[in-house]
Amino acid sequence: MLRGVLAVCACATLLVTVQSSPQAEKIQELFAGRISNDVLEDARLDVPELVRKYNYPLEEHTVTTSDGYILGMHRIPHGRDANNTPGKRPIVFLMHGLTSSSADWILMGPGTAFGYMLAEEGFDVWMGNARGNYYSRRHTSFNPDSLFNTDFWEFSWDEIGNLDLPAMIDYALAHTGQTRLHYIGHSQGTTSFFVMTSLRPEYNAKITSMHAFAPVAYMAHNRNPLFLVLSPIANSLDSLAMLFGLGEFLPNNQIMTWAGQALCMDEVVFQPICSNILFLVGGWNEDQHNATMLPVKLGHTPAGASVRQFAHYGQGIDGGEFRRFDHGWLRNRRIYGSYTPPRYDLGRITTPVFLHYSDSDPLAEVPDVQRLFRELGRPVGLFRVPQATFSHLDFIWGIDAKELLFNRAVNLIKSMEIHGFDDKI
Ligand SMILES: *[C@@H]1O[C@H](CO)[C@@H](O)[C@H](O)[C@H]1NC(C)=O
Repeated sequence: MLRGVLAVCACATLLVTVQSSPQAEKIQELFAGRISNDVLEDARLDVPELVRKYNYPLEEHTVTTSDGYILGMHRIPHGRDANNTPGKRPIVFLMHGLTSSSADWILMGPGTAFGYMLAEEGFDVWMGNARGNYYSRRHTSFNPDSLFNTDFWEFSWDEIGNLDLPAMIDYALAHTGQTRLHYIGHSQGTTSFFVMTSLRPEYNAKITSMHAFAPVAYMAHNRNPLFLVLSPIANSLDSLAMLFGLGEFLPNNQIMTWAGQALCMDEVVFQPICSNILFLVGGWNEDQHNATMLPVKLGHTPAGASVRQFAHYGQGIDGGEFRRFDHGWLRNRRIYGSYTPPRYDLGRITTPVFLHYSDSDPLAEVPDVQRLFRELGRPVGLFRVPQATFSHLDFIWGIDAKELLFNRAVNLIKSMEIHGFDDKI
C-alpha cells in the first residue's frame, strides 16, 4: 500500500508533504532560536517524518473500527543497523498512554527510544493510536470539530480497549499473516489492554505475552494531585462538558495554565512544563529527565483525548474499583442492565502478563499494582524497577529506561519466542 502511494507521489516531485507534530506551532514560538535546529526539527515533525529522518522504514496504516473511528497506525517493519532486511518477524504491538500517541515510542531517537530498539532487536514494530488523538481524529460520519454536538468525543478508554485495540490487532495480524503478537502498553495502554481481554476474552489467544509498563487498573491509592482534585467531580465535569459541547479535552486553556502554576509552585521547573497536561498527570522526575529533549516531548504531547477518558479514571479513584464507565444509573441500566457499571473481570485475562512498576509512580501505586497482579487470570512476572525515584513517564522516556526496563522486557519476549510459554518462568 505504501509503495503505491510513493509511486504516485514520484510523478509529482513537488508534492513533498512534511507534516508537523501536534504542538509544532507552540514549539516554534517557545524554542525557535534557543535550541539546536536538529532538536527543533524533531519537535516539529510528525511521527512518519521523524522516523524517516533517522532512516528507519516507516509504514502508515489506517483501520476503521466497528463504530466508525478511523485510526492511524505506524509500523517500523525492521531495523536500520541490525535485522535490517524485510521479512517475517515476531510482532510487538505498542500502545501509548493518556493524551499521548505513537510518538512516545520513538521521540527519544535511535539508540534510546524503545520503538527503534525493538526493530533493531529483530521485531516487527506496530504502534497504535487511540481514537481522538492526533493520528486518529477522524470518523466515517462524526465530526471531531463540530460545534453542535459531541458525538465524536463520547468515549472513554472503555471503547479504546473494547473496540480500537481489537481492530488494530486484527489488522496487524491479517496484514502480516500471523496469528499472535506481543503487546506492550504504557499507562492507559495497559488499562485499555485489561479492558479488551476481560470484555472480549477471545483476544487472549492472539497475545503471546503482555508487558505492562506503569500498569493502571485500580487507582484507589492514586496520589496525583490533579486527579485527586478532579475525581470527586468527574461525573459532573463530564456532563457539563458534554452539555456545553466540549467533549474534547482541551489542554491549551486558562484553567490548565492556572492548575499548572498552582501545582508546580514548589518545583524547580519552568512554565511550559507546569501547564502541560502530560506532566500534570504523569508527574515530574528531574533524575530521569533528559533536558535536551524537553522541546521534543512538548512537541508531541499532548496529542489529544476526550474529557470522558479523564472522567473514567476519576471514577476509579473515587470508587476504588476497576469498572466500566458510569453513565448514571438510568443509562447504566439501559447499557449494562444494572444500575452500577459492572467490574472488569480480570480473571478472564488468560494472556501471560508481566507487570513492570516502580516505587515512585503516583498513578500506579504499589498496593494497586499488587491487587491487579493477584486478580489477573495468568499473572507471570511482577518486576519493580530498581531505582527509587523512577516515575510514571520514565517508563517511556527515562534516561536509564533501557538498562532498568527495556532490556528485561526484550529478553523476556525473546525467551518466550524461543521456548514458548512455560508457567514456571
Ligand atoms: C540527552 O539527549 C541528547 C540528544 O538526543 C543526547 O545527545 C544525550 O546523550 C542525552 N543525555 C543523556 C544523559 O542521556
